[in-house]
Amino acid sequence: MLDTPDLLRMLHPFMAVTVVMPLIGVAVYFAAQTRQRRLAVASKTKTTIAPVVGREHVRVGQWLAGAVVALVLLGLAHPIFKTIGRENVWAEDPFRGVFAVAMYVFTIASLVLLYRASSQLWRGTFATLTGMGLWLLGMQPGVFRRGYEWHLSHFYFGMVAAMLMIFALATLPEIYKSKRWRLIHAALNTVAVLLFISQGVTGVRDLLEIPLQWQEPFIYQCDFANKTCS
Ligand code: HEM
Ligand code: HEM
Repeated sequence: MLDTPDLLRMLHPFMAVTVVMPLIGVAVYFAAQTRQRRLAVASKTKTTIAPVVGREHVRVGQWLAGAVVALVLLGLAHPIFKTIGRENVWAEDPFRGVFAVAMYVFTIASLVLLYRASSQLWRGTFATLTGMGLWLLGMQPGVFRRGYEWHLSHFYFGMVAAMLMIFALATLPEIYKSKRWRLIHAALNTVAVLLFISQGVTGVRDLLEIPLQWQEPFIYQCDFANKTCS
């Protein structure tokens, strides 16, 4: 049986694999169908694709965007609050603890308001606030960002993917309005799909690299540069 800290660490990968990755599959499937149907209709070719696929893509897309932001919040929660507990922050620097909790509330509230906003101004505002909240949390002590190897970083790629999801939510009505926006949307989210695939790779790598809690005192004595333990 795993210890509680190890189980808490597993929550994020568990949600990623069982909820977010399947949603990505469904969103991409409907995206391809939406485009195929639109092209068939435009060229007056017969198609068996039902007209609802566009609507279904958007419905799943809205769930996906929220799920990705929630997944990032979950991935960050474990290292942030573990570090706050370990460094005795509540006694020594309570502002840091209060700030982290406040940023969680602020970011979730901004996301909820982003879903509800309809005018361009408010969509822009709440999208910016949601993104800002994620970055402020991401920069908290304890988060492993792999800055020395940022091009293989689970943190940076995950954050960029979340920004793209927030952007898709914020520009939802525009996507219907012009060919230009539709192309921007398709191009940006193709990048998002590549980022999601890389999250699968880097996430699994990180799970393999992180020791179980009871092994930490031994593993962290090793020489990571020369890959030796004595
Ligand atoms: C994995 C992520 C996503 C991918 C790969 C993707 C891709 C696409 C593609 C290829 C199209 C069709 C473009 C065309 O007709 O040529 C489309 C349409 C659209 N997408 Fe996405 N998208 C994604 C996520 C989202 C999200 C998160 C939202 C918003 C919440 C969204 C909203 C829309 C809307 C409103 C349309 C227009 C639907 C229509 O024409 O009926 N998408 N998307
Ligand atoms: C949509 C996909 C995903 C996104 C956006 C995402 C995002 C993040 C973010 C922002 C963090 C916090 C920074 C860090 O510690 O690197 C994180 C942590 C982590 N992620 Fe992911 N992730 C995704 C999928 C996955 C998958 C598929 C796995 C493994 C199967 C995984 C495993 C991990 C692990 C092990 C951590 C460290 C957690 C900890 O220290 O407690 N992630 N993820």
